[in-house]
Amino acid sequence: MSKTETGSKSGKDAVLGFLDDAINSLRHAQKHHRMARISAGALENARKGLDDQSAPAPAEPPMKETAIAPSQEIITPPAVPLGSTLEEIRETLGDCTRCKLHSTRNKIVFGAGNPHAELMFIGEAPGADEDAQGIPFVGRAGKLLTKMIEAMGVTRDDVFIANIIKCRPPGNRDPEKDEVTACKPFLLAQIEAIKPKVICTLGNPSTKSILNTTTGIFKMRGRFHDFDGTPVMPTFHPAFLLRSPNYKKEAWEDLQAVMAKLNWPLPETRKK
Ligand code: URA
Repeated sequence: MSKTETGSKSGKDAVLGFLDDAINSLRHAQKHHRMARISAGALENARKGLDDQSAPAPAEPPMKETAIAPSQEIITPPAVPLGSTLEEIRETLGDCTRCKLHSTRNKIVFGAGNPHAELMFIGEAPGADEDAQGIPFVGRAGKLLTKMIEAMGVTRDDVFIANIIKCRPPGNRDPEKDEVTACKPFLLAQIEAIKPKVICTLGNPSTKSILNTTTGIFKMRGRFHDFDGTPVMPTFHPAFLLRSPNYKKEAWEDLQAVMAKLNWPLPETRKK
């Protein structure tokens, strides 16, 4: 074997090795963070194309002007995983400027509670109080959520509370698509790190975003749905319950179903 042949073979092995690593990273990113920009399948095809070149070359293929071969596609480097613990994810998030909300927010509201919680609540977005303190659900709606959690026989420190987006939209407007797109991978990484046994989505935006549905909260609540194998109970947002207290009964039924799913004892005296 000539020096050139040896050199080109080990170079190719290095590329194949790189592609194997990239395929594994992509599989991980797609499974856990849903954020890879190229599919592992596409890389596998590229790898196969390269590997096939080790078959004996046909005698003197005719020289032709060709379009770019599939194996020469431009490959975007795999997206970096955001972290596998809450600390790592927080570090990756940093002083985030991934969407326009960074210019109006005061504090990033990362989420709070037990990093190994059995139950995770997901709301919509921080409001003024949360933006000032950097803690989710600390305003009026938050005080009601705290009561709802305590009625379940646990405290805020036993569960984990997060939102679809981590920065306050100006004037508490609804989160916009580009903001959710930029922020949601961090929430998904948090879910993956915490591995809750049950997720409870609060209100329409979080229910629709997590369950990828356009069906409204009135139809979704009251029964479990699936998020990648984790049961999800949608219920009313506490801000809605403050405006429409008649629906507290339904919300309490939803929370009791969550407790039953988690094998948590039902409090003897029913509190709301
Ligand atoms: N409403 C939300 O959806 N999230 C908060 O953190 C506070 C209010």
